[in-house]
Amino acid sequence: MSNVVELRNVVKTYDFGDNIKVDALRSINLTIKRGEFVSIMGPSGCGKTTLLNIIGGLDSPTDGQAIIDGIDITLMSEGELARIRREKIGFIFQFFNLVPLLTALENVQIPMIFTGRFSNSEIKERAIELLRLVGLEHRLHHRPTQMSGGEQQRVAIARALANEPSIILADEPTGNVDRETGWKIIRLIKGLNETLGQTCIIVTHDPTIAQISERIIYMLDGQIIPEPPKLTINPSSSMLADERRQMLLAELKWLEASIKGLEVRKNKLDQKSYAQVKLGYEKQLERLKKAVQEEYEKRRSK
Ligand SMILES: Nc1ncnc2c1ncn2[C@@H]1O[C@H](COP(=O)(O)OP(=O)(O)O)[C@@H](O)[C@H]1O
Ligand SMILES: [Mg+2]
Repeated sequence: MSNVVELRNVVKTYDFGDNIKVDALRSINLTIKRGEFVSIMGPSGCGKTTLLNIIGGLDSPTDGQAIIDGIDITLMSEGELARIRREKIGFIFQFFNLVPLLTALENVQIPMIFTGRFSNSEIKERAIELLRLVGLEHRLHHRPTQMSGGEQQRVAIARALANEPSIILADEPTGNVDRETGWKIIRLIKGLNETLGQTCIIVTHDPTIAQISERIIYMLDGQIIPEPPKLTINPSSSMLADERRQMLLAELKWLEASIKGLEVRKNKLDQKSYAQVKLGYEKQLERLKKAVQEEYEKRRSK
């Protein structure tokens, strides 16, 4: 069985009551092969996190079917889903999500304690091995607050690998670290994908991550679209434009479209969701501006 993810007509609708509904996902069909390294791109609010959460059994589809590692999880109870998550999925989040009071070593041990697959001494040994794998053998007894963002994310990667999951899901894993650290993290995940053969699905805004992926899945407004929206740049600049620049521009355009879309939807949303989505866009815009600035300076210094 070579498909590790199979989504068939998956729909996810959030119901806010008063007849207000948000279609986070509209009829998603997607298959991902075992061992693939896939990135998912698209503007804020287009459904990337929802998609990842359904693949990871953190959320259930409103309609359609989700088959993960050969198991139909569509109608599973919360308890059954929790087991699937523990055994098959490794999550890496944007904000690391480590337990603040526990050390790196303890954080990595947690998922193994819950599966009951290993003895206590094995758990500790494995956790140390995993932290060594991500280059943190000197941080075993540090707590999250005593580590940099990049180090915390590496702990999270070690934790994600603890139960040898078939799928690694990462939701903007480099969203909160500087670019260089982001690169190290991605090289690490990519290396693990190459050496351990785990399937990796990464949500990202970073075109450089997308570039090293075997496949990029573009999303817009709850749907998978075949390619990113076409750019219209004048011929002389398009001759000069490299891929990186094109992708930055594409992101900018998407963001523009998403902000317009949000303003149109404004009175359909409650204040909190509106503010949340808006904040997401603002942050994304900030990151994008920074990336453009860096790109500009790089070019100027050439
Ligand atoms: N728990 C939730 N309750 C209500 N609406 C949600 C929830 N999660 C996401 N949404 C809505 O679903 C849409 C897709 O969100 P999300 O998957 O988080 O997008 P992305 O990760 O691409 O930014 C957005 O309009 C968002 O407001
Ligand atoms: Mg998201």
